[in-house]
Amino acid sequence: MATRIDGKLISAQIREEIKQESRAFAAAQGFVPGLAVVIVGDNPASQVYVRNKKKACEEVGFYSEVHALPADTTQEQLNLLVDRLNGDDRIHGILVQLPLPAHLDETEVLLRIRPDKDVDAFHPYNVGKIMIGNPDFLPCTPAGVMALLERSGIDPAGKRCVVVGRSNIVGKPMAMLLLHANGTVTVCHSKTRDLGAVCREADILVVAIGRADFVGADMVKPGAVVIDVGMNRRPDGKLTGDVDYAAVEPVASAITPVPGGVGPMTITMLLKNTLTAAKKAAENRRG
Ligand code: GUN
Repeated sequence: MATRIDGKLISAQIREEIKQESRAFAAAQGFVPGLAVVIVGDNPASQVYVRNKKKACEEVGFYSEVHALPADTTQEQLNLLVDRLNGDDRIHGILVQLPLPAHLDETEVLLRIRPDKDVDAFHPYNVGKIMIGNPDFLPCTPAGVMALLERSGIDPAGKRCVVVGRSNIVGKPMAMLLLHANGTVTVCHSKTRDLGAVCREADILVVAIGRADFVGADMVKPGAVVIDVGMNRRPDGKLTGDVDYAAVEPVASAITPVPGGVGPMTITMLLKNTLTAAKKAAENRRG
């Protein structure tokens, strides 16, 4: 019987810490951390994420603004908004919600966000800093996974870590953070041969592929820690992860549920990055 890693609870604890820090910061500096979230078009999942981000900001005492742009926004209009937010002193973090509508160039937008306001850590400057182990910001979802492990007393050092999925948002930075924590890391993807056998070697298995209930008990070593980054909608509308929780739970030593596992941690790490950016801005103001 596995320990259930409660992301909701751990997330609430960290948000309370951020709230206290934000209050002390505001008292000392005379301004609060500020986040701008940009969303283009009407992707329903993105709209939910953006609403949750704004609510989370309010709960910890941050300033926040949401820029909801129509689906036919041009690249130039989006670029101009990013430029304006880059120069706005109230805004310490800028997040452009992905995916963007197909006619817009994601790479161009991410390159345009000032690296010191890039709280997603998607700018190539920040990606490079993560790669060399000298990050200013940690990417939110992988950082959330690391915080879950840490607060559950699970140390990746020396362990076999298998990451399933190689996206720029989760898989690749996840592998890097586990490597920096001294894990022995393997990254699997759709072309991996005998995926089950590789997964079965894992002491820590992190799954981020976006396929409902893909990982069953036959892919998990007894006693492994299983982290499910998946967020899939079942035909009945229910949210489900990439791991078949009911099947894997008896085999694993610890497992994250969906919902209530990694999900709440992502926004928590975004808040943390925004606070970090505001602290940097305060340092720079003092010169
Ligand atoms: N879309 C899905 N996850 C993310 C994220 O972490 N940041 C942004 N900007 N867009 C996303």
